[in-house]
Amino acid sequence: MTKENNTTELNITRERMIQLLNEDLAGEYQAIIAYTVYSQVLKGAAYTDIARELEAHAGEELAHAIKIAKQIDYLGGMPCVIPKPVATSTDPVAMLRADLENERVTVGRYRERIRQAEAMGEFALSETLRAIIVQEQEHEIDLSAALDIDVPPAREPAHKNNGRSQVKNHYASRR
Ligand SMILES: [Fe+2]
Ligand SMILES: [Fe+2]
Repeated sequence: MTKENNTTELNITRERMIQLLNEDLAGEYQAIIAYTVYSQVLKGAAYTDIARELEAHAGEELAHAIKIAKQIDYLGGMPCVIPKPVATSTDPVAMLRADLENERVTVGRYRERIRQAEAMGEFALSETLRAIIVQEQEHEIDLSAALDIDVPPAREPAHKNNGRSQVKNHYASRR
């Protein structure tokens, strides 16, 4: 257990935190774009409610992006301007699955980021991230409900040393 914690880069520098938060910010931009587009192109009576929810998610993701950019600026970094790539599809289920997969990745990343912020003594950052992760988990719940599936486990970031076994263990412990 201790070994695993060591490989999640618990003790990181301010520069590394800025770099990781910028990757998180690129993910927030991706989410803004995906939810903006998907909320408008999801068609059919079965998807009316979820389309409205996705529109609300888009606004929440924008608020997350602003909060993360503020924290990057506070740490002395420059917020990035490039989103992670957005998957496109005309199939409603594929769109919802793409959103859910992104949320799984996001929740896993923020879990790690909260632990790192705490280790740095950056408690305001940690509080900001905790508020964001609450909403990301709600997004997962909304998407899972729309897909009529259980909420899948978060996807923790893989790391060089034992990333694979870490992800595997995570799955094993949840299933
Ligand atoms: Fe977000
Ligand atoms: Fe989200």
